[in-house]
Amino acid sequence: MTRPRVLSGIQPTHDSFHLGNYLGAIKQWVELQADHDAFYCVVDLHALTIETDPALLRKRTLVSAAQLIALGVDPNKCTLFLQSHISQHNQLGWIMECLAGFGEASRMTQFKDKSQKSGTDRTAVGLFTYPMLQAADILLYQADRVPVGEDQRQHIELTRDLAGRFNSRYGQTFQLPQAYILKSGAKINDLQDPTSKMSKSAATMQGVIEIMDTPESNAKKIKSSMTDTGREVRFDTEEKPGISNLLTIHCALSGKTIPELEAEFEGKGYGDFKASVAEIVVEYLRPIRLRTLELLEDEKYLLKILREGADKARIVAEKTLSDTYKNLGLVER
Ligand code: TRP
Repeated sequence: MTRPRVLSGIQPTHDSFHLGNYLGAIKQWVELQADHDAFYCVVDLHALTIETDPALLRKRTLVSAAQLIALGVDPNKCTLFLQSHISQHNQLGWIMECLAGFGEASRMTQFKDKSQKSGTDRTAVGLFTYPMLQAADILLYQADRVPVGEDQRQHIELTRDLAGRFNSRYGQTFQLPQAYILKSGAKINDLQDPTSKMSKSAATMQGVIEIMDTPESNAKKIKSSMTDTGREVRFDTEEKPGISNLLTIHCALSGKTIPELEAEFEGKGYGDFKASVAEIVVEYLRPIRLRTLELLEDEKYLLKILREGADKARIVAEKTLSDTYKNLGLVER
């Protein structure tokens, strides 16, 4: 029995992943590798769509890979690799660019939002072609499912359209992937602004729990998180968005249920509850941070894991690209 194939990617654009990345996405990646043929990719080429400092890109790419491993993405159970190690991504990316319509690509809301913010003169063409490279990431591996957040749904729809268009023009070549939208069960919000999603682009990092941050700093962020009115620890996103967010975080990491936690903290104040959340988070992240640092210290070993991942990925990517070229009528070598 063949296991369904999944592929997902994450950009190495920051020094650390945050708790929202982990609970909203990476945790599901870890679960999926048990019964899926999983391909996980640090999409370093996508990170070039904004201007980057070379030393920083290198550092962030390695820290991203190391964190994925420390968080449970297991190179023995899945294929973990860097996008730039597989040249077929760029090659199939070009084919996808030739297949996509200009108008179709212009309708991508992520492009519209981002380019509007910086203005067309400061928007790279690569930001415009980004979704076609993403389609190549997915189609190269014949992925059945693509675990992503809701914000990526349109890109996956485009990928399906491109795959279908190619197949009907040039013959069956690509598996049509399905968006596997990650359950919003563990949607984590900013600690200072608990009605918006925890995000790397927040105005201040005071409300963002970073995996690579020190335990002391994370404990402090939780203890000084926004305080709701009242004093009862109760899940109520309208009246108590801050406490509800902390309850969600506690549940996700301690495995306790919300009613259990409400009972446990009955008659106690927010202070006791925040201290408990801080302890749970800090103890959960401590070994993950240490393991990441250990992997970064042994860079040779980390690079070897990534090389082995790329060697596995390349076999699949070469086959798909060669079928694609053949079906297009490009002359064989
Ligand atoms: N665009 C995705 C994001 O910003 C990252 C990504 C690139 C990706 N290639 C992918 C996700 C392929 C899934 C599959 O989150």
